[in-house]
Amino acid sequence: FCFASAEHPYNHLTDTLDNGRIKFFNPQKLNDPRYDKLPLSIRVLLEAAIRKCDGLYTKKEDIQSILDWQEQQNKAEVPFSPARVLLQDFTGIPAMVDLAAMRDAVAKHGVDPSLVNPRCPTDLIVDHSLQIDYSKCAIQNAPNPGGGDIPNQSQGSSRSTPSRPLSRGGSQCGSQRGSCSKPACSEPSASTGQPSVSVQQIENTPLLCPFHLKPVFETETALKNQEMELIRNKERLQFFKWCSKAFKNVNVVPPDFGAVHQVNLEYLSRVVQLNEGFIYPDSVVGTDSHTTMVNGLGILGWGVGGIESEAVMLGQPVSLTLPQVVGCKLVGSINPLSTSIDIVLGITKHLRQAGIAGKFVEFFGPGVSQLSAADRTTIANMCPEYNATVSFFPVDQVTLKHFKTISESEKLELLESYMKAIKLFQSYEDPSEDPHYSEVIEINLSSMVSYVSGPKRPQDRVAVSSMKEDFQSCLDEKVGFKGFHISKEKQETRVPFLHCGQEYKLAHGSVVIAAVISCTNNCNPSVMLTAGLLAKKAVEAGLVVKPYIRTSLAPGSGMVTHYLNTSGVLPYFSQLGFEVIGYGCATCVGNTAPLPEAVVDAIKQGELVACGVLSGNRHFEGRLCECVRANYLASPPLVVAYAIAGTVGIDFEKEPLGVTAVGKEVYLHDIWPSREEIQQIEEDTVISSVFKDLGERMEKGNTFWNNIECPDSVLFPWDQKSTYIRSPSFFSKLVKVPPPQSIENAHALLFLGDKVTTDHISPAGSIARVSAAAKYLLSKRLTPREFNSYGARRGNDAVMTRGTFASIKLQNRFIGKPGPKTLHIPSGQTLDVFEAAERYQREGINLIILAGKDYGSGNSRDWVAKGPYLLGVRAVIAESFEKLHKNQLVGMGIMPLEFLPGQNADSLELSGKERFTITLPDTLKGKIITSQGKSFVVTALFDTELDVNFFRHGGLLRYVARTLL
Ligand SMILES: *[C@@H]1O[C@H](CO)[C@@H](O)[C@H](O)[C@H]1NC(C)=O
Ligand SMILES: *[C@@H]1O[C@H](CO)[C@@H](O)[C@H](O)[C@H]1NC(C)=O
Ligand SMILES: *[C@@H]1O[C@H](CO)[C@@H](O)[C@H](O)[C@H]1NC(C)=O
Repeated sequence: FCFASAEHPYNHLTDTLDNGRIKFFNPQKLNDPRYDKLPLSIRVLLEAAIRKCDGLYTKKEDIQSILDWQEQQNKAEVPFSPARVLLQDFTGIPAMVDLAAMRDAVAKHGVDPSLVNPRCPTDLIVDHSLQIDYSKCAIQNAPNPGGGDIPNQSQGSSRSTPSRPLSRGGSQCGSQRGSCSKPACSEPSASTGQPSVSVQQIENTPLLCPFHLKPVFETETALKNQEMELIRNKERLQFFKWCSKAFKNVNVVPPDFGAVHQVNLEYLSRVVQLNEGFIYPDSVVGTDSHTTMVNGLGILGWGVGGIESEAVMLGQPVSLTLPQVVGCKLVGSINPLSTSIDIVLGITKHLRQAGIAGKFVEFFGPGVSQLSAADRTTIANMCPEYNATVSFFPVDQVTLKHFKTISESEKLELLESYMKAIKLFQSYEDPSEDPHYSEVIEINLSSMVSYVSGPKRPQDRVAVSSMKEDFQSCLDEKVGFKGFHISKEKQETRVPFLHCGQEYKLAHGSVVIAAVISCTNNCNPSVMLTAGLLAKKAVEAGLVVKPYIRTSLAPGSGMVTHYLNTSGVLPYFSQLGFEVIGYGCATCVGNTAPLPEAVVDAIKQGELVACGVLSGNRHFEGRLCECVRANYLASPPLVVAYAIAGTVGIDFEKEPLGVTAVGKEVYLHDIWPSREEIQQIEEDTVISSVFKDLGERMEKGNTFWNNIECPDSVLFPWDQKSTYIRSPSFFSKLVKVPPPQSIENAHALLFLGDKVTTDHISPAGSIARVSAAAKYLLSKRLTPREFNSYGARRGNDAVMTRGTFASIKLQNRFIGKPGPKTLHIPSGQTLDVFEAAERYQREGINLIILAGKDYGSGNSRDWVAKGPYLLGVRAVIAESFEKLHKNQLVGMGIMPLEFLPGQNADSLELSGKERFTITLPDTLKGKIITSQGKSFVVTALFDTELDVNFFRHGGLLRYVARTLL
C-alpha cells in the first residue's frame, strides 16, 4: 500500500478524521457537481479508482469516465480494485500454488522470496472439502463435486452440513401429545437420501440463510465426516497452513467454520477498512456467486472466476464496463402478516421480471429502512436469480445497528462520520438527495402479501387472505389439483371423537398435522423467531392447540434450537405442542409420527378432507400421511396460527383465531409480533450469538488444524510425490529481460468451430479412465478410484494441462468425430491433444488455435488460459471472443486475434494445416502469413499498453515476477 504519497496524483483530495489521525481520499473535494448525483455504488467505484490511481493499471482518465457515469454507462471500460479477495479452497489452491512457485523463481535469481505476497489482502476459506461420506438423509443438495469456479446454482446451506440421524416417526409415540397404539399412516420410503427438487425450489431458488452457522459437531456421523475430510485433504490443508504462515496479506479460515459466504458475512465484512492510518470502503471480489450477499451490508462486491481473483491478488484491477444502475425504490409499509421471506421472494420476483441482467441494482426510498440487515443480505444473495451483478444496499442506520453487536462504539462513530464525509451514508429523509439512476423500479412493500400453497402441489399459491374461499372452492371443485369434489350435504359433516377422555369434532379443513420446519426458505432466523414470538403471545393470551393435532418442530440445525432457546421462545413452542423432534428430514418426507387412532377413524368415517400444514418446501397429496388429503405449505408462524385455529377454513381478518378459557376472542393480529420486535430479538440473540460463537471458534481454531504440521520456511517444500499440489511450470526459464516474442511457423493445434465453451477448453468433473491425465496419475501409482476430479486436482498443473481440451464433446475439424483428439500435422498421427502439444513442444514448434465465433463462452474456469499456455499455445485466432475469456488469454500472455469482420478460416480458405507466422506491429493490426504464402490481417485484441506488455512477458505471472527481479 502506498496511499497518498506526495506523488499520488490525487494527493490533494486527502482529508482527515479523528483529529487528524485517520486519513482518507475525499471525492467531494473534486468539487464536481456530478458526484452528488452518482449512484452510491458508483461512488464506491470512484473512490477506489482515486485511491488506486497509479497511472498504469488505473489512470486519471478512468476517474473521469466514472465521474461521467451519466454519459459513459455501458460504454467506458473502467478498473475496479476491490479492498480484498475472497477465495474458497478449490479456487484458492491454484492461486496460492502460483505464488509459492513465484517465490522459488525469484529466489533462483537471488531476490528475497519473502517479497512475493498477494498485493491485495486475501481471505481463503476452506469450506469446500467437506464431502458427505456418512449421511442418512441428504436434505437437498449433493456435495459440489468441485466443478466450475462459479457455481451457477445456489447451494443450500445443507451442502456443508452433514445430515443427522433422523428420529423416525415411531419414536415420538407415547409422547403426551396424541396416543398411538399402532401406526395408522403408511410407512414412508423416507431417508433414502433422494433429494427430490420441488417445483417451488425451481421457481424460487432456495434461500441461503444469513447468519446461520453450521451446527456444532456433535453426532457420530458428523465427527466421522470431519475426520474423513481431514484425512483426505491433509496435503492441501498443510499447504494452506503454510500459506497462512508464509504470506503476508493472507488470512486462512480453517475448515469447519462455515461456508464461505457465511464466514464472509459474519466475520470478514467490516463496511470500512482501516489500513496504515487510511480509511476506505470495504469491497470484495470472491470466487463464489454468492459473494453478493455482503451487498446487503453496504459492501460492494461480486463473484469472479479463479483466474480473475488471482489477477486481483497480483495487483491487477478487475476490468468492467461501467454498469447501468437500476434504482429499486421501495415505498409503502410492510404488510404486518408478511414475513421476511414473503418480502424477499416478492422483491426477487419483481426484479426477475424487470430484466436487469448484468446491471447493478441499488436500493433507495423510504421503504428500505424497514428491511433488517438479514433481509437485505438475503435479497442480495438472490442476485444470481435475477442476474444482476450486485444488489447494493447503501450503509444506513440499520447497517450501523447491525454492527453494534460486534464493533466498539468508537469504531462505529468513525465509520459513520467517514461514510457521511464521502456521502456514502443514506438517510432517506430528503428525496432531493436521491441519486440519478439509469432507470427506477418502484416496489410497493404493501403489495407483498403472505401466501400458502396447496392443497396438493407447491406451485398452487393462495394468498392467506383468500384461504377460506379457496378451500371452500376446493371442496366444491371436481377432483383435481385444486378439487376434492365433496357434495354440498357432505361438506357439513362433523365427526365427534374422543381423545384422552375429551370429545372433539373433526370437519373438512380440520388441521391434524402442523409441522414447523426450518429448511430452505424457512431457515431464515427471522421467520423462526416470528413463529416463536407468536407462540409466546398465543400462550400468554391463553390460547391452546388442540391436543390431537400432531405438532412438531424440526429445526434445521442445532444452531436454530440454540437461538430459539436463547431468545426465550422455545418453552412457548413446546407449550403449544411444538417439541423439537430432531434434525433432518421428517415431516416433509412423511416421517410424521402416526396420528391418534381416533383421529384416523374419524377422518375415515366422515370421508373428511383433513389438512396438514408445514413450513417445508415440498408436499404431495397423501405425502405427509395417507389419511391427510390436503397439505399446505406455509411460513412457520402461519403453521402455528393454523394449528391454533385448528382449521384452514378461517379468514384471519374476520374470525378469531381462538377463544380463551374465559371466553375472550383473540384475533391473529392481536398476537402477531411486530417487525421491530422481531428485528430486535434477532439482533440481540441470533446475530450477537453467531458473531460471538464464530469469533471464539476462530480464536481457538480446531484441534486438527492446530495439530497440522507445517514448516516455517519461506519457500514451500514441495513434495515430489504429491499428486494434488505441484509447483507449476509457469516460471520455467524465467530470465530478467523477456526474449522477443515472435510467433513464427506455428502449427494449429486445433481447428475449432463456433461456440467453443470453457467447458470444452477445461472440462470439470471426473477424470476419464482413458485420458492423458489418467495415464499420468496411473504412472504415479494411483488407481482409478483415487483419480478424483479435475476440480480437486487444480493444484497440479500436470493433471490440468493434460485435462485441457480433454472434453469428449470437443469438435475438432481435424478429426471427424467429437473427442479430445487432434492431428499431429507433421507426422499425420492422431493423438490426445496433450500428447500432440507435447510433441510439438519437443520439436520447438509454436502453436496457435483456429476457432469460430464466441470462443470461450461459459463459466470462468481457472485453467482455461493456463492450460492452453502450458500446452504451448501462443495465439488464438477466432471470429469473436467472449470478453471475459479474452481477458484471461491476455493475462496468460496468449494473443487473442480476431479475423476481420466478414472473414473466417473458410472464407480465407485455410486448411489449418499450413504454418503461421504472426507479426505484431504497433497499430495492433497483426499480419499473418501462412506457409502457403497466403497473407491476411487480424485484429489483436489488446486494449492497453499493459496488455501488450503481458504478452511480451509471457503473462501476468511472469510480468509480476520480473518486476521483482
Ligand atoms: C402502496 O400500496 C398501498 C396498498 O395498495 C397503498 O395504500 C399505498 O398508497 C401505496 N403506497 C405508495 C407509496 O404507493
Ligand atoms: C439469466 O442469465 C441466464 C444465462 O445467461 C439466462 O439463461 C436467464 O434467462 C437469465 N435470467 C434472467 C431473469 O434474465
Ligand atoms: C436452553 O437453555 C437453558 C439455559 O440456558 C439450558 O439449560 C437448556 O438445556 C437449553 N435447552 C435446549 C433445548 O437447548
